Amino acid sequence: MKKIRAAITGINAWAPEYRLTNHELSKMVDTSDEWIMQRVGIKERRILKGEGLGTSHLGEQAVKGLLEKTGTSPDEIEILICATVTPDMQFPATANIISEKCGIKNAWSFDLGAACSGFLFALQTATSFIESGRFKKIIVVGADKMSSITDYTDRTTCPLFGDAAGAILLEPTTEEVGVMDSILHTDGSGQKYLHLKAGGSAKPASHETLEAKEHFIYQEGQSVFKFAVSSMADVAAEIMERNNLKPEDISWLVPHQANLRIIDATGRRMGLPPEKVMINIEHYGNTTAATIPLCIWEYESRLKKNDILILAAFGGGFTWGSIYLKWAYNPK
Ligand code: UT7
Repeated sequence: MKKIRAAITGINAWAPEYRLTNHELSKMVDTSDEWIMQRVGIKERRILKGEGLGTSHLGEQAVKGLLEKTGTSPDEIEILICATVTPDMQFPATANIISEKCGIKNAWSFDLGAACSGFLFALQTATSFIESGRFKKIIVVGADKMSSITDYTDRTTCPLFGDAAGAILLEPTTEEVGVMDSILHTDGSGQKYLHLKAGGSAKPASHETLEAKEHFIYQEGQSVFKFAVSSMADVAAEIMERNNLKPEDISWLVPHQANLRIIDATGRRMGLPPEKVMINIEHYGNTTAATIPLCIWEYESRLKKNDILILAAFGGGFTWGSIYLKWAYNPK
């Protein structure tokens, strides 16, 4: 019997209209377009405005478009996984809220928290469900409203993040396409360098936590940078070696978009020319769980069936990893 593989059969993404430019940021904090472009490579990021609109709004737009684009009825979806670190609320899961907003009534759904590696962790989780033979249509959404946890008086973090969502439809195939291999890691000792101090069960919200600004992203940038550069490049190189892939076999590297310097280092380590690296950080910044599907969606018309993609990410946790997949369809 042929092995069942999990193939991405459709992709969609959505980002809010409002563009927060470096010029505008430089009026809010002591920064400049030059510093941000040189150190990170971001020109603008999208911000979700509107009272009561959370991550589920981003996910809803991405999923509704995905269902329409793939001609899928909401009733056909069996599982929906939302990777996010900015859920609408502590519970219920944002995945449930997205399902409700999209008319998905026959699915069970849950959130998965792996920060910037969230999409990879969720894709591998969904892949295992598909490979089991029991499920036929799963949606994986990577969605984050990072502006909801960003301190716009802190110049060391506020230029980095943006809001967006990306969603894929995953289905079984017996062809040699889809998710071929994955290597995923966590190291909880990295927690001290990148976290949200309060608002969880260890330190619930209080007047003190609000005053101390403990509901915003805390990041020791240089330490995270050091780990990110080596871990993302190492794991991408490892998945190439383990699958006997040479640089010329690879069609695209799809890296998490946190810093252009980290992306460049990963591409170099893999021996890839810059034109094989998907990049859109300049226009969206770091949208955490959304960066990878957002990137693939923007490049979708350039992808051909059997193209080899290496996905790679690094983020809070620490979490990191790489997925090797073969693209399953030609441009439509
Ligand atoms: O996706 C989740 C994982 N996160 C990451 O992968 C992020 C990893 N880290 C990074 O990307 C980089 O560390 C940052 C982009 C966050 C910072 O870049 P850096 O080159 O590591 O800068 P730095 O923190 O070493 O700061 C260098 C200087 C400092 O000034 P002094 O001490 O040299 O006088 C900072 O105060 O740049 C200053 N600085 C800024 N200057 C202008 C920090 N932020 C800014 C700013 N504008 N926005």
